[in-house]
Amino acid sequence: MNNGAIRNNINNDKIIIFDTTLRDGEQSPGASLNIKEKLQIAEQLAKLNVDVIEAGFPVASKGDFEAVRKVAQEIEGPVIAGLARSTKGDIERAWEAVQYAKRPRIHTFIATSDIHMKYKLKKERPEVLDMAREAVSFAVSLCPDVEFSAEDAFRSDREFLCQVIELAIDAGAGTINIPDTVGYAIPSEFGALIKLICEKVPNVSRAILSCHCHNDLGLGVANSLAAIQNGVLQVECTMNGLGERAGNAALEEVVMSIKTREDLFHKHTGIITQEIYKTSKMVSHLTGMMVQRNKAIVGENAFAHESGIHQDGVLKEKTTYEIMTPESIGLKQSRLVLGKHSGRHAFSNRLSEMGYTLSSENLDKAFQRFKELADKKKEVFDEELQAIVEDEIYAVPENFVLDYIHITSGNKTIPTATVILKRNSEILMDSACGDGPVDAAYKTIDRLTGMPGSLQSYSINAVAGGKDAMGEVIIKVKIGERTFTGRGISTDVIVASAKAYLNAINKAVYRNEGKGKG
Ligand code: KIV
Ligand code: ZN
Repeated sequence: MNNGAIRNNINNDKIIIFDTTLRDGEQSPGASLNIKEKLQIAEQLAKLNVDVIEAGFPVASKGDFEAVRKVAQEIEGPVIAGLARSTKGDIERAWEAVQYAKRPRIHTFIATSDIHMKYKLKKERPEVLDMAREAVSFAVSLCPDVEFSAEDAFRSDREFLCQVIELAIDAGAGTINIPDTVGYAIPSEFGALIKLICEKVPNVSRAILSCHCHNDLGLGVANSLAAIQNGVLQVECTMNGLGERAGNAALEEVVMSIKTREDLFHKHTGIITQEIYKTSKMVSHLTGMMVQRNKAIVGENAFAHESGIHQDGVLKEKTTYEIMTPESIGLKQSRLVLGKHSGRHAFSNRLSEMGYTLSSENLDKAFQRFKELADKKKEVFDEELQAIVEDEIYAVPENFVLDYIHITSGNKTIPTATVILKRNSEILMDSACGDGPVDAAYKTIDRLTGMPGSLQSYSINAVAGGKDAMGEVIIKVKIGERTFTGRGISTDVIVASAKAYLNAINKAVYRNEGKGKG
């Protein structure tokens, strides 16, 4: 579809959801993803039915380029976009990566605020105008679908901004994106800016207007909604609100606001909202960025009613305190699914009901893990199945495998760990003391792998309810110059901690072998 076709097909009631979890979201400090993880998220974003996936910034690194190329080659459905500054080299590299998509898009940008032009670009307005024109024209010569962003648009001089937009549309940009790059706007002001652009830019009807609102004042979603009320048809957002600094507008909040307040917006999106919860969980697992409990839509407490008055109200009539149902985002009541007598067939059936299709090899591995768990605890819940499956599907190859761990610990004992790891046919064994059982385990693993890590963060959560629930440990570990996220699950928190640490080390090995991000 070329820009002309996109414009002719404009449906003024539909808000285009442009997901930038893999680009702006991945720029969140500590949220870096390897290629395999990016592909998995992209696959899920396609199931969520986003309209556009911004898969990365191809010129930024070899790994970014590879990830965008793979997403373009393998993910069907959404438009696949690659970001590029307004230079020939960036745009060529973006095209090299996205050209394989059925519907590729080049997204090129240049800063238009005085502060960015003076201090960052060190360029005057006429030069920026020329660069924007040349960039869009060049991008259009390669790719039929081109988006142009005026970086820091909200702090830009209004007249100059309108001039850049007009010129970019004349050069062939089919989408014009208006970012609030530093999250400075207040909703009434941001809405007014969109209105002004609609009124002042003479050729504005030839392009789709878009917004991209950062969340520095916690107003990313509010500003995006104000933009919709004033004429944008595309919203750029990320799952769980990930992104530079305080993040971007959260996709789930934008989408559920439009859906829940359809009476006000009179708009809809193409998002399959029942996929929201699963996508949120996946993004949080893979990036290691936990979702806060009281986060709107996808937080653990979002549908929990604590006070007696609220519980009483909800039991009598759900709508007393619930403005949307948990089912609408794909959150089902924790359901006891299987026990230790359940067979492979029942296990595989339940997984397909939950939306997972596993290769026979992954199914075998996941079933083995399930059996081990069912032997330890009577009841296995959906959340625990999800954790096991995601562990299997999304695992990087296990260079080091935990075979045995024994800990001695107590208030009058020096914490000591003995660990056995397997590396292919090699057996590695050692023990070490530490400040606590987890520290002792990590010190031993450091000695065994020869890849010492420094622990940056550690968090533990119960996967489902109950005293015997599995624990999920998510850590960030600095190994060499890079930080890796590690995740481990087990009914034993020390085992989960050791697995999380090995997971981070295995990711570092995977990357060093050139298969992760470059
Ligand atoms: O925040 C921003 O301005 C951006 C642009 C590159 C769209 O991320
Ligand atoms: Zn941004």
